[in-house]
Amino acid sequence: MKKYQILPSLLSANFAALGKEVDAVLAAGADILHLDVMDNHYVPNLTVGPLVCEALRRHGVKAPIDVHLMTKPVDHLIIEFAKAGASHITFHPEASEHVDRSLALIRKHECKAGLALNPATPLHCLDYVMDKLDIILVMSVNPGFGGQHFIPSSLDKIRQIRKLIDASQYPIHLIVDGGIKTSNIREVADAGADMFVAGSAIFHHHDYAAVIAEMRKKLEE
Ligand code: DX5
Ligand code: ZN
Repeated sequence: MKKYQILPSLLSANFAALGKEVDAVLAAGADILHLDVMDNHYVPNLTVGPLVCEALRRHGVKAPIDVHLMTKPVDHLIIEFAKAGASHITFHPEASEHVDRSLALIRKHECKAGLALNPATPLHCLDYVMDKLDIILVMSVNPGFGGQHFIPSSLDKIRQIRKLIDASQYPIHLIVDGGIKTSNIREVADAGADMFVAGSAIFHHHDYAAVIAEMRKKLEE
C-alpha cells in the first residue's frame, strides 16, 4: 500500500454523471472513493444511501469505497452499506448510543471500521476503542457541506491523534476530511495524516489528474 492515499469525495462530483465521474477520477490516480452519506438530521444536508454504493459496484468500481456516515442512528445503515459493497464505514460517536457495539458491527460485516471526530469532539471517545478501529477520521470542517475552509486548529488535533495511534501500535489510518487542497496537504501530512479526502479541490478543477499529481508531488517533497 502507498504511504499516502488520496480519496476524492463524490459530494462535489456531478451526480447526473456519477459513473463517468468515478471512472475519470480513478483513471486520474485516485486511490479510494469517499462517499458522504447525510440524513438531514445528524447534519443539515441530504445525500445518498446504499443504493448508490451498490450502483457503483455494479458499474464496475473495484477501488475501495470509504463510506462516511453523517447519520443518526448508524447501525441499520452499517449493515445496508456493508451489503452494498462498502469497504470502510466510518461514523460519528455522537450518532451512536453504543459506539463499541457499532464498531464491532462494522468489522462483523467485514468492513474496516472508523470513527469520525467533529472539530469540537474531544479525543477521549477513542480511549477504550483503539483495538476496534481501523480508521480515525478528523473532520477539519463542520460536517454537512463541501467547499468549506480548513479549520487551522485541526492540525493540533491531527498531531495528538498521530501520537495516540503510534503509542497504541495498532495499524490505524488517520484520514483528514474537509478543506484539503494542494496548498495545505503537505502541512496536514506533516501533522500525521496518511489519507486525504478532497472534494471540491478535485471535482471543481477541470483536470482531475493534474490536481491529484500535484497533491502527490507535495506529499513527496
Ligand atoms: C463534509 C464531507 C466532506 C466534503 C469535503 O461533511 O464529509 O467529505 O465532501 O469536501 P471539500 O474537500 O470540498 O472540503
Ligand atoms: Zn466526508
